[in-house]
Amino acid sequence: GAVELGPFRHFMQKEIFEQPQAITDTIPAVDAFSPALFGERGAAVLPGIQRILILACGTSYYAGLCAKYWLESIARIPTEVEVASEYRYRDSVPNPEALVITISQSGETADTLAALKHAQQLGHTHTLAVCNVASSAMVRLTEMAFLTHAGREIGVASTKAFTTQLTALFILAATLGKLHGQVDAATEAAYLKQLRHLPAALNSVLALEPQIISWSEEFSRKENALFLGRGLHYPIALEGALKLKEISYIHAEAYPAGELKHGPLALVTEAMPVVTVAPNDTLLEKLKSNMQEVRARGGQLYVFADADTHIESSDGIHVIRMPEHYGPLSPILHTVPLQLLAYHTACARGTDVDKPRNLAKSVTVE
Ligand code: G6P
Repeated sequence: GAVELGPFRHFMQKEIFEQPQAITDTIPAVDAFSPALFGERGAAVLPGIQRILILACGTSYYAGLCAKYWLESIARIPTEVEVASEYRYRDSVPNPEALVITISQSGETADTLAALKHAQQLGHTHTLAVCNVASSAMVRLTEMAFLTHAGREIGVASTKAFTTQLTALFILAATLGKLHGQVDAATEAAYLKQLRHLPAALNSVLALEPQIISWSEEFSRKENALFLGRGLHYPIALEGALKLKEISYIHAEAYPAGELKHGPLALVTEAMPVVTVAPNDTLLEKLKSNMQEVRARGGQLYVFADADTHIESSDGIHVIRMPEHYGPLSPILHTVPLQLLAYHTACARGTDVDKPRNLAKSVTVE
């Protein structure tokens, strides 16, 4: 049936605010990390998986990049991630034992489907779809599936589909970790508790909207922006930059913060806003020195810092403090303010937020 906008200005805003519910709907059956969550073949196949290859496009590809960090650190399984349109035409060296994971909101993206078929032709038999549409071609083609329950996503720029994909991929990493003896009972209990807390944590991040609106006015007058993150939050920086360029048409690029000195620092002037995802993890001290490099060149810093980081607002440094420190699920929470920043910047510029020029919701032709 028809989806109503309710109190929201655009579907994208509505969908950003639906994320606590979308994640609640995606995790109801998860009271333990069981291979059965991935379908009938899960219990037979997942314990034997020693390598993973992830294939996807667009925002779904960034979910895959984030998953690599989880799959390697939590499950200790070597993982490669590749853009589907590259993989399908590349002369790769296949390892048919590897589990191929395709990630797609629609399950109909032409390049991702073609990449999946290409992998199957190269001998891969173990395939898993992380997908939002149960009746899609992708779910029909794969051996296993985990369905995200984001509900229908209308805004062309993906929001709730992305955070439910991340949730699904975290559950996969924890499940493989448990099957491979890397996640003990205490860790499993802690992860489950953090997962169940996610919707409430997302609600407190959504409550930051007024602070983000206050940044968006200045942002809307920029023509370029840099996004920095490290580790697990580098893919989130990529996603933040993609959201901004898709809907506000501001040129945005994301870098792992350590790469700043190898090129993008040359672009930093007073005119360049630099958005930094700065959770309080082990790389924070290094990130702080990257931020000094930006300030020394007059760049304006916009920092999303965790509650327990000692980064204060000062001249040229604007800080929004996240409500908590979120542990391994932090990328999911840090995605939300970046979505809101892109959204309100686009609104301030008056673009067609739900239908940005030249883009389609589902790219079913090559
Ligand atoms: C299009 C959409 C993006 C999406 C990408 C992949 O480019 O505009 O939002 O991330 O396709 O779509 P999929 O349905 O495969 O996740």
